[in-house]
Amino acid sequence: MTASRTALLDAVGALPQAVNPLALSLNECPFPPLPAVRSALYAANDAVNRYPEFLPQRLRSLIAGHDGIAEDQVIVGAGATGVIMQVLHAVTSPGDTIVMSAPTFDGYPIFAQMARLRSVTVPLDVHGHHDLEAMAEAAAQARVVAVCRPHNPTGTIEPADDIERFLSRVPEDTVVLLDEAYVEFLAAEQRIDGPSLVSRFGNVVVVRTFSKAYGLAGLRIGYGFCAPDLSRQLWRMQLPFGIGHTAEVAVAASYAAENQLCQRIRMIAAERRYLQMRLWAMSVYSTDGQANFVYLPGRSTPWPEVFDGTGLQLRHYPDGGVRITIGSRQSTRAVLGAVTAAR
Ligand SMILES: Cc1ncc(COP(=O)(O)O)c(C=O)c1O
Repeated sequence: MTASRTALLDAVGALPQAVNPLALSLNECPFPPLPAVRSALYAANDAVNRYPEFLPQRLRSLIAGHDGIAEDQVIVGAGATGVIMQVLHAVTSPGDTIVMSAPTFDGYPIFAQMARLRSVTVPLDVHGHHDLEAMAEAAAQARVVAVCRPHNPTGTIEPADDIERFLSRVPEDTVVLLDEAYVEFLAAEQRIDGPSLVSRFGNVVVVRTFSKAYGLAGLRIGYGFCAPDLSRQLWRMQLPFGIGHTAEVAVAASYAAENQLCQRIRMIAAERRYLQMRLWAMSVYSTDGQANFVYLPGRSTPWPEVFDGTGLQLRHYPDGGVRITIGSRQSTRAVLGAVTAAR
């Protein structure tokens, strides 16, 4: 076999398994792509000899129409990751300060380092909530503050009123990243009206992604929206030809199949509640998670030992806590089996 043929087989063999009940470490969607999304992607493949749009105007317009925001308020990136980096590149200079909670989404310390920022971390409270008072105080000296709602890894959400109070204390020239990577898992009454928020707070960028509830993590599509003045500044950093053809068709197909997506989201949320309830019945404390994962703090149980040798891929934290992505009922049984065996 030629080396190139071997390399091809290796590359295909290295693709992650779409369905793997033990892969619970990255908060991915446990389902393979919807049939309509898959068909749209086939169609997009036929045009890969051509460049995509110079700047992703059509995708921007599609998202704006869906979310009820003006087109010029939207920026698009390679995942929420790309959007966050775009914001940092546009509004910070090396040496500026970014405030985040600890622990938080693993990406933030990495992004801060890439943008050569000084990170100031504020510990979460004992139930995994942000200390918004302390974060507002720290924001007075910072260029950027990141607040995730739901938070990663704890899945907790702060009440909308508390977020508003926090925003009114943050200086107007400090940019707030309101990271809503998991917003689709929230019930309608738990959500914040993002478009209204950014019309009242010109320094807020709401960040979202198609990687989680939409199940498109491998395509790398995220977006942000904010007040027009700020979005003009951010759009100037939009990478030419930076978003491939597949993004627009996959997003359009997903919006068209929203009923099926909502059904999947409801199944994941129901499975999360089932796991939380079963853990609670075994007197295992988990934070009040509202997304597609459950967080068990490391206070009383050595979780790495509990899950060692089970084959489950989970995200362990330095304090002994563990974050478990919701998968199928098979995944839930594997988690509960390990917890039961350790008791
Ligand atoms: C809170 C939060 N923000 C952003 C991201 C990045 O997501 P993306 O895949 O869109 O880059 C993640 C991924 O885990 C996340 O948990």
